[in-house]
Amino acid sequence: MTTIATVGVLGGGLMGSGIAQVAALNGFTTIVREVDEPSAQRARSSIEKSLGKAIEKGKLTEEARAATMSRLTFTTVVADLAFADIVVEAIIEDLELKNEIWKELNALCPAHTIFASNTSSLTIAAMAAVSGRGDRMVGLHFFNPVPVMKLVEVVKTVTTSEETFSRAFDFAKRLKKEPIAAKDNSGFVVNLLLVPYLLDAINALEHGVASVEDIDKGMMLGTGYPMGPFTLLDFVGLDTTYKIAEIMFDEYREKRYAPPPLLKRMVLAGYYGKKSKRGFYDYSVEPPVVSALGL
Ligand code: 3HC
Repeated sequence: MTTIATVGVLGGGLMGSGIAQVAALNGFTTIVREVDEPSAQRARSSIEKSLGKAIEKGKLTEEARAATMSRLTFTTVVADLAFADIVVEAIIEDLELKNEIWKELNALCPAHTIFASNTSSLTIAAMAAVSGRGDRMVGLHFFNPVPVMKLVEVVKTVTTSEETFSRAFDFAKRLKKEPIAAKDNSGFVVNLLLVPYLLDAINALEHGVASVEDIDKGMMLGTGYPMGPFTLLDFVGLDTTYKIAEIMFDEYREKRYAPPPLLKRMVLAGYYGKKSKRGFYDYSVEPPVVSALGL
């Protein structure tokens, strides 16, 4: 069994840069592929910033930061991932786009390379089928913020071999994460339960049950959640949540996964949450205030 030493990461956004940071920090040679130079630069600076914060807090030494950065390479060329022992994909939830890259990589990578998708809601089977290496395809689902959240869902689909699954499970442990095994059902474990909860919070708001602030406060102080549902929605991204809900609704045809009209309207308005500075809260002011949503 080939030991994983080199990690390829497809996509250097919120999740991809977090995954790359954790991989490089834990000793893996890591290559991040982004679509263009500015995006690759953004991925690099977001990792530098995150490591800088860890130094400020006394959680990382200068030497460890330098060593981590020296293990990281940023590229715009898919073929640069050809020598990876595992490729973790963290691009947008677009099956066609994902599959195009998997097909390209299948022709470039050696036989032992594992293909792992960080998809939140698409089934792994839909990628395994066209990847050309269904037995070496798994789901590796990380949580935001990746450097902080301990969980990784390791997802086995019908074609995944036992060897691939155990190599991926072991890889998650070497990232100092806590892996759990999940079946290839849309949403796996966490989003299966989390997404209906977030959508219910929006429905409750639309039905006038309580205000954004009081619903957030209720769930934080009543159940000990670190963030209320609206803060979490803004944190995950309303566009991302909408996309996940659409995929899950399409899969299960159950009302509990149907994106509420307010969520759709906010996405249409460009209210994506924290990343666009406006979601259920307005982040253009400090401290953030509740957005006027015409409710
Ligand atoms: N990178 C690195 N470290 C970070 C970080 C980041 N982006 N964000 C926060 N941290 C660290 C801080 O440095 C701090 O470390 P310390 O305790 O050692 O000083 C620690 O995390 C706590 O951060 P803060 O004190 O700034 O703030 P909070 O106590 O409010 O914690 C939080 C922030 C960890 C994000 C916490 O609010 C939380 O756990 N929220 C819930 C997050 C969650 O549910 N994520 C899952 C979303 S669902 C998902 O990702 C799946 C997808 O498919 C949708």
